[in-house]
Amino acid sequence: MKKYFVIGNPIEHSLSPQLHNYWLEQNNIKAVYEKIKLEESEIENFILKIKNQEINGCNVTVPFKKIVIPFLDKLSSEAEHTQSVNTICFDNGDLVGYNTDIGGFQKAINNLNYKVKDKEILILGAGGVVPSIIFALNKMEASKITVSNRTYKKAENLRTQFNKINIVNWGEVPDFDMIINATSIGLNNESINLNITNIGDGKLFYDVIYNPRETNFLKEGKKLGNQIENGKLMFIYQAFEAFKLWHNIEPTINSSVLKLLDND
Ligand code: ATR
Repeated sequence: MKKYFVIGNPIEHSLSPQLHNYWLEQNNIKAVYEKIKLEESEIENFILKIKNQEINGCNVTVPFKKIVIPFLDKLSSEAEHTQSVNTICFDNGDLVGYNTDIGGFQKAINNLNYKVKDKEILILGAGGVVPSIIFALNKMEASKITVSNRTYKKAENLRTQFNKINIVNWGEVPDFDMIINATSIGLNNESINLNITNIGDGKLFYDVIYNPRETNFLKEGKKLGNQIENGKLMFIYQAFEAFKLWHNIEPTINSSVLKLLDND
């Protein structure tokens, strides 16, 4: 029986096992996928188990997406550029780190038929998922990417990887076509303290959070007449890409899959 895991800390809330086990069963693959909470000191040993084939692969979530990198033999160019790994595979004797958050975000946006090309994007937050989002937006040829983060320095650090981004102070709202909440504000029903009442309508409000399915950020965007989208499909598509890497099969995304993640 093959074994796959998602590693993180905390990990209780991860819905990856539901998704992967559903697809494994659907495709008659004899494997299991479990979540496991690790301490940083346990990462190296855990990854060695993939090298010696006790484990067949893993997903990586916060706070380990960068921490796993020194223990891997190779990185995909996307993982290299973002310094963020969320999927580990064993390929021809090498441990390889991939970043499927990028493809996940891109597919989720494409699914909306939204054209990012030549659009101005405002990103709120500078945490773990933001390099992947910026990478995807650059691939989709956004004309301007602005980052606003409570801790200015963290936004500034992103400049080492993405030298063209603009940075504004937390609380400043420059004009945009699409605004992305990549902070953790909203997970517990909190509101982002930003004055967006003058931004008008016809924009896209995107929240990386999908539980709750409509954060106050999205509610406000909708009230002002804007299109809104949560992070559910991004999450599903990053899992889809990981599944494809491990099993060489494109799993089905249907209403049952969407329902697996409905827990609010
Ligand atoms: P993750 O990697 O999961 O995104 P993170 O690195 O802690 O976790 O990122 C959380 C993001 O939410 C950060 O951008 C954080 O801002 P700081 O860099 O200033 O910590 C942002 N965030 C969390 N709570 C916030 C709050 N109450 N107000 C503003 N920003 C907040």
